[in-house]
Amino acid sequence: MQDQPKYKPQRGSEFFADGRAGRPEVEGTVARGTLDEDSAFYTGKDAKGDDVTEFPIAVDKTVIVRGQQRYDIYCAPCHGRIGNGLGMIVRRGFKQPPSYHIDRLRNAPVGHIYDVVTNGYGAMLNYASQVQPRDRWAIAAYIRALQYSQNALLADLPQEARAKVPGADAAVSAEMKAAQASQPLVPNDTDFYNFPAVPATPAGVPGAIGAGASKLPSNQPERK
Ligand code: HEC
Repeated sequence: MQDQPKYKPQRGSEFFADGRAGRPEVEGTVARGTLDEDSAFYTGKDAKGDDVTEFPIAVDKTVIVRGQQRYDIYCAPCHGRIGNGLGMIVRRGFKQPPSYHIDRLRNAPVGHIYDVVTNGYGAMLNYASQVQPRDRWAIAAYIRALQYSQNALLADLPQEARAKVPGADAAVSAEMKAAQASQPLVPNDTDFYNFPAVPATPAGVPGAIGAGASKLPSNQPERK
């Protein structure tokens, strides 16, 4: 092999008309396993190029739990664990994304969520290389679950859960009220905003922010 005639990478050739030894792919070549013909699955678009309104995968609890795990890793830092757009990166000054619980995003086709992860959206970069297509759908399913969780009717909840919703049911027993008080469904605002005055990055490290880091960025609404 050392001595046989061969082309070395990036060397020229007199054999081919374009003078290159490295040959371009034959048009239409598809690498094995990357045909990606299911366009709804890979692009989130239908044949007309509109966002799909239905999931191209079967959604069950395993998918949603996987989506939750991926969401908490890749999306929650900005969008927040409950999707309100108040993640840690945002509290430290990044542009605040819209809450997933606004009507526009609740009514957006599921293909839109897939598209945002695949191609990015405004100030948000895409997550195509970190999050593979199946996981993007799993995340979209979990976002739907988050949206549902913030807009569910009391009647959708089982009786025990209903009792935990503050002020929901006059017939809630004292015992259930006590359980709700000790385990609130929604964290107190003080838990959200009481950041330690000492920033996570020690002073002296380039880019470290001072004691003011515990303040809300100015683009955020003051919450009561
Ligand atoms: C680095 C912060 C950041 C991360 C991480 C992030 N996003 Fe975003 N996202 C944003 C910002 C900022 C916007 C608003 C962009 C704009 O309007 O310019 C946004 C907007 C969105 C929107 C709304 C688009 C619309 O129609 O208004 C969706 C849906 C979304 N992101 C999904 C996701 C998902 C899913 C993930 C995780 C895979 C994710 N984002 C991760 C910052 C982030």
